[in-house]
Amino acid sequence: MPISRPVCQRLEKTAREAAAHSYSPYSRFKVGAAVLGGSGKVYAGCNVENASYGLCNCAERTAIFSAIAAGERQINAVVIYTPTTEPTLPCGACRQVIHEFGPAATVIALGKGRARIETTLETLLPAAFGPGDLQRPRR
Ligand code: THU
Repeated sequence: MPISRPVCQRLEKTAREAAAHSYSPYSRFKVGAAVLGGSGKVYAGCNVENASYGLCNCAERTAIFSAIAAGERQINAVVIYTPTTEPTLPCGACRQVIHEFGPAATVIALGKGRARIETTLETLLPAAFGPGDLQRPRR
C-alpha cells in the first residue's frame, strides 16, 4: 500500500512524539508508533509496561487497538520510532496483529540516525495465518 510523502511525514512525526509518552521503566526501551487507518486518520501508540512483565504492550499494538476502538477496520501503514541508532522492526506478535487488519500494510521503521527501513507486512510475515484460515462451521 504506497503512502504519499506528506502522509508519511505526518506518520513519522506522530510516532516520534508518541515515543515521548512511552511507559517503559523496566526495559528503558522507548517505542512510539503511528498507524494510518483506512479512513485516512492517524493513530498514535507507545509501549506500556507493567510490573507484571508479561503484561507489557508494544507501541504498535497500542496504536492499532486505538484505531480499532475508533472504528477503523483497515490499516494501511504502521510507522515505528525508537530513539536508537538503528531502526527496530515490529516483534512477531505485532506482525500478526498488523496482519489481521493490514495484510498489505506498509511498515516503516525509524531510529535517531539516518537509517530508515521501508518494507511491507507481507515481507515481514510471509505465509501468514489469518482470518481466511478459519473455517466457519456450517449450520
Ligand atoms: N516493544 C515495542 O513496543 N514494539 C516492538 O515491536 C518490540 C518491543 C517494546 C515492548 C517492551 O516495552 C520493550 O519494547 C522491550 O521489549
